[in-house]
Amino acid sequence: MTTATARAFPNIALVKYWGKRDPALMLPATGSLSMTLDAFATTTTVELAPEASADAFLLGEAPAGGEALRRVTRFLDLVRGRAGSASPAIVRSRNEGPTAAGLASSASGFAALATAASAAYGLSPEPADLSRLARRGSGSAARSIVPGMAVWHAGDDATSYAEPVAAPELHMIPVVVDAAGKEISSREAMQRTADTSPFYPAWVESTTQTLDDMTAACRDGDFTRIGRLAESNALRMHAAIQGSFPPVRFLAPRSIAVFDAVRQLREAGLETYATADAGPNVVALARPEDSGDVAAELSSLGSARVVGPGPGAELLGDEEAA
Ligand code: PMV
Repeated sequence: MTTATARAFPNIALVKYWGKRDPALMLPATGSLSMTLDAFATTTTVELAPEASADAFLLGEAPAGGEALRRVTRFLDLVRGRAGSASPAIVRSRNEGPTAAGLASSASGFAALATAASAAYGLSPEPADLSRLARRGSGSAARSIVPGMAVWHAGDDATSYAEPVAAPELHMIPVVVDAAGKEISSREAMQRTADTSPFYPAWVESTTQTLDDMTAACRDGDFTRIGRLAESNALRMHAAIQGSFPPVRFLAPRSIAVFDAVRQLREAGLETYATADAGPNVVALARPEDSGDVAAELSSLGSARVVGPGPGAELLGDEEAA
């Protein structure tokens, strides 16, 4: 095969990945746990172009250059190394969700790219190897290889991959308060947090414990504990980020309003919790039977829709190409 198309979905972490133990190998400082969504897909086609002088990357209709293209080329270099190929490629990618606004487009993007590029270059990795490969593009992409709930192990190069984890069915309600791109990339903010935030060591230590607690809560199907742990872990991550120098703050007044509204709903008897990634948008968690009500209640604060657990990254037929 010299052309392949894959689709992958973003994931939202209940226990966050924030900080690298090894930036070159993209090994995380802690393990993390997330749910792959059934919305906001990225579809990516990789076509080998042996006659071309360099890779090309089209995001939507527009040719991408600069750092976006360099990241794709660096990633393809890894695939070419594994496949023993020197061929450039044309990569066409389209996102159904807001890019770089904290809804994990880099996770779906690199999961789709890893899957399509592996096939186009003639590799057929096992899921764990595909997850290890996706990790090298964007850490959280390791988890978007896996359907539904996934745990990504901190491990070393050979063992740091994501795999399915037992959990109850959960719905998420992304509340998009701002669809614009963020001012600082998660990569840069993550490094600054690790380098300068006095709260970073405490974040790493507490998250290691939270992951154990969350894994147990998922196994027990204990929604209340899952929600409490997830909301606390997200706010601890943002506290560590805000402790950076110079400071970084992703949460906007409208984000905080969603956290407050979620707490008020909970106090009024509708059980829901909130989390937020490296951007202003907030994601509420709910039991499937409550998610429609939660979305309706939060819709005055931003566009709110219910999403469920989605499939892992997969190859598509030609007719579905990007
Ligand atoms: O994979 P990256 O570099 O986009 O980092 C993602 C970090 C968070 O989304 C904030 C947390 C997570 O675990 O997904």
